[in-house]
Amino acid sequence: MSLILSEEYLKEALVDARRVKKYFPIYGGVFKRRIGEVKAVDGVNVAIIKGETLAVVGESGCGKTTLAKTIIRLLTPTDGNIFFNVPYDIRKEIEELLSTNKNNQRLDSLRQEYDLATFKGRKLKMLRRHMQIVYQDPSTSLNPRMLVKNIIAEPMEIHNIAKGLKAEEKVLELLRRVGMDETHLYRYPHELSGGQRQRVAIARALSTNPDFLVLDEPTSAVDVSVRAQLLNLLKKLQKEMNLTYMFITHDLNVVDYIANRVMVMYLGNVMEAGNKDLLFNKPTHPYTEALLSAIPVADPFIKRKRIILHGDVPSPIDPPKGCVFASRCPIVKEKCFTEKPPLIEMRKGQYAACWFPIS
Ligand SMILES: Nc1ncnc2c1ncn2[C@@H]1O[C@H](COP(=O)(O)OP(=O)(O)OP(=O)(O)O)[C@@H](O)[C@H]1O
Ligand SMILES: [Mg+2]
Repeated sequence: MSLILSEEYLKEALVDARRVKKYFPIYGGVFKRRIGEVKAVDGVNVAIIKGETLAVVGESGCGKTTLAKTIIRLLTPTDGNIFFNVPYDIRKEIEELLSTNKNNQRLDSLRQEYDLATFKGRKLKMLRRHMQIVYQDPSTSLNPRMLVKNIIAEPMEIHNIAKGLKAEEKVLELLRRVGMDETHLYRYPHELSGGQRQRVAIARALSTNPDFLVLDEPTSAVDVSVRAQLLNLLKKLQKEMNLTYMFITHDLNVVDYIANRVMVMYLGNVMEAGNKDLLFNKPTHPYTEALLSAIPVADPFIKRKRIILHGDVPSPIDPPKGCVFASRCPIVKEKCFTEKPPLIEMRKGQYAACWFPIS
């Protein structure tokens, strides 16, 4: 599978994950034998430039969370290479060595040193402080028996960043950064509003001074006005702390507000990716077009045809052979059922996997 992004772009990438696969085994029968696997992520390339926000969208179950967790190595990939803040020359050398397909000592040692897919133990722990995740629902992701102050301080202690008085100062500074103050230090999560809980979750994620943050639907459990406040906060923090975001969401209005680039997933595969404005105004993949057609338009004089997709998403246990979207595609043709379309550049900075793209 070719690397889809231009060299120019890859050079700047802080996160560069290649051909990532994550399959979950399924066990069954009386002997609990392995009878198959869920292909949650099935060969995805993703690169994110320092300081930008990549939004990842797609229907429930398409593999967004699994992809994010694999990139930050909360999950072990089944296959692929994952690079974080690795000089471009090194990534290029690894790619060249991989393409020669030989057992190669140099390749092994480079991968041991730079490819997160090979990391274990202490190396993995050291990596964790640079990559953090904020989940959708802070009422389950925050420990209900811990005080706010300890929730935020815990990662600093785990990573030996600060202890005692120094940690307390840092906690207060983080709380202020996320728009809270010392009156919240000695409260439990249930004594906070949903929005405040999410602010605490953000402060906790920031406590290790990470460079990269995965935001997994961070605003979907709060109402519209709190959502706007949280999005503004995230934008402000990104600027102040030079953060790079991978933002998972169902809400295309949120994407429009926060993202520079968008990646559209379907059944563990990338359907389309690229610059947000381009992709929103001129989608080339019929799946993207269908997703976009569902955004409500405020202006009653603008009529947009809503594209309704029929049928269900196929099972990731036995995904279709050709294009994974073929069974629901409104413009499907014969070839789509038999051959899988590669992800190729349709316009500058816009990539799609489709045999018959919309022009
Ligand atoms: N630990 C697991 N074991 C087995 N299958 C899993 C596991 N985690 C996820 N899956 C499966 O992998 C697929 C992708 O799940 P994932 O949670 O990544 O989707 P998602 O796009 O984040 O969905 P949502 O929008 O609902 O959060 C689903 O079919 C899911 O059932
Ligand atoms: Mg998810």
